[in-house]
Amino acid sequence: MLIFLIGFMGCGKSYTARRLSQALDMPYVDMDHAIEDAEGMTVAEIFERHGEPWFRAREREWLEKLDPEAGLIVSTGGGAPCEPGNMDLMNKLGVTVFLDTGKDAIVARLLRSAGRRPLLAGMDENDLGFFYDSKMEERRPFYERAAFHFRHQDIDVLVRLLRNLLP
Ligand code: S3P
Repeated sequence: MLIFLIGFMGCGKSYTARRLSQALDMPYVDMDHAIEDAEGMTVAEIFERHGEPWFRAREREWLEKLDPEAGLIVSTGGGAPCEPGNMDLMNKLGVTVFLDTGKDAIVARLLRSAGRRPLLAGMDENDLGFFYDSKMEERRPFYERAAFHFRHQDIDVLVRLLRNLLP
């Protein structure tokens, strides 16, 4: 079974993927890292050299190559679900979980990591708050197409839910 963790940058997809991986004894993969390995460049370098549409095309290609029979947890990039057809594809390939972490926690995390996220370059806390509001308004309809909407902070709740779905 493929489990896709989706949500805004900084919502905790990578952390949750690691925790789920241990609890469910399933490997996990970070989509950004997989694309970085394949291209031999960081996401920031990809954006700089080739632009965002090129990166979005790599994300799509990467998703299309996934084996729906694999037992794998995928931590997706925050923008991946918002490209046309990608939510349909992920919902067809496996189980999607939207991590709907609150704005304050997300902005605090993004403030610490803005340097490695090209879309956030040079933003301060105020900018990040505005960015979150406008981007989330655009993206929420996509994220909400996930099979599960997870607001609970207790990952054990998610573990139990997913365990019941595993073959
Ligand atoms: C992006 C999120 C990033 C990465 C890229 C673009 C986005 O992934 O894919 O910088 O558009 O939200 P994370 O959500 O893992 O930070």
